[in-house]
Amino acid sequence: MPNLTELVACAGCASKLAAGELARVLHDLPPQTDPNVLVDFRGSDDAGIYRWPGGPALVQTVDFFTPIVDDPFTYGQIAAANALSDVYAMGGVPVTALAIAAMPETGIDGDTIRQIFLGGFDKLREAGAALLGGHTVRDPEVKFGYAVTGRVDADRVWTNAGARVGDRLILTKPLGTGICGTAIKNKRAPEPLVTAAVRSMTTLNKRAAEALTTFGDAVHACTDVTGFGLVGHSTEMALGSHASIAIEFSRLPILPGALAIASANRSGGMGTNKQQFAPTADTSALGEAEVDLCFDPQTSGGLLASVDAAKADEILAVMQAAGLPAAVIGTVTPRGGSFVSVRR
Ligand code: CO
Ligand code: CO
Ligand code: CO
Repeated sequence: MPNLTELVACAGCASKLAAGELARVLHDLPPQTDPNVLVDFRGSDDAGIYRWPGGPALVQTVDFFTPIVDDPFTYGQIAAANALSDVYAMGGVPVTALAIAAMPETGIDGDTIRQIFLGGFDKLREAGAALLGGHTVRDPEVKFGYAVTGRVDADRVWTNAGARVGDRLILTKPLGTGICGTAIKNKRAPEPLVTAAVRSMTTLNKRAAEALTTFGDAVHACTDVTGFGLVGHSTEMALGSHASIAIEFSRLPILPGALAIASANRSGGMGTNKQQFAPTADTSALGEAEVDLCFDPQTSGGLLASVDAAKADEILAVMQAAGLPAAVIGTVTPRGGSFVSVRR
């Protein structure tokens, strides 16, 4: 079997388009007038919502990426957990999935490809989502992921635009997967870090979403922390909610050993995130490695939920009882000079 991460041409190419770049492209599309479209690409959420007359609304999203680990089954699992995440982040339940795969003509054998699909299928099954089909193309670089459709109560959709001043912010997974991925690609990732990162990235955000759902109206906004990193996704939530976000670094869940190797394992995506989000963020109280972690792009990251302060501890207790490394990491504050500030 080939080492999958060796087939990735360039870590920078694999990262998402910068938020600003993408916004400019989407801005040029003519407006949609379908009244059943409740949430679309004009907001900053990663999934769209379509009202389906007489039933629950549809929540739809798509995500795929190049290998970030060498084991094909694990790569498939991570790709599925990551693609499913945006459905959970909006309060939905995954129902169906379509695979999207790009596989090179040479350098990868049939069994490796089969293992990728089996890994993905394993997580779809855990999520209760049915694989309907997909589309595979030849491409010099391996890419894999899914388009996922879920159902959601149209009156219970979480977007990243509903955070209220005074809310507590809960993050449900540790940070540092991007740093770990870069270290894996450069063959210098410490084994305990890889083990913890893989465990985290293959964990569905299902139980985290279920815990939040239990608390109904106490959940005001939700997103998942992925390519734009903690500060980027917090910025989007702050912008959409006309508020600011104050994060306490000491409360952040972090993958073991990620901070120690952060500055030697910066990805292209981390640089893009800093360019995009640092101008409106205050991280002046932090050291270099801590700043890196705040801008580190995450794969299959946790949910970031803005919840009623009075319910935060109760929600956290339910998540921790479910075995999730969740933490209250900050608060929503009135709009100030910075959209996001991180203090020690
Ligand atoms: Co997302
Ligand atoms: Co996404
Ligand atoms: Co086709």
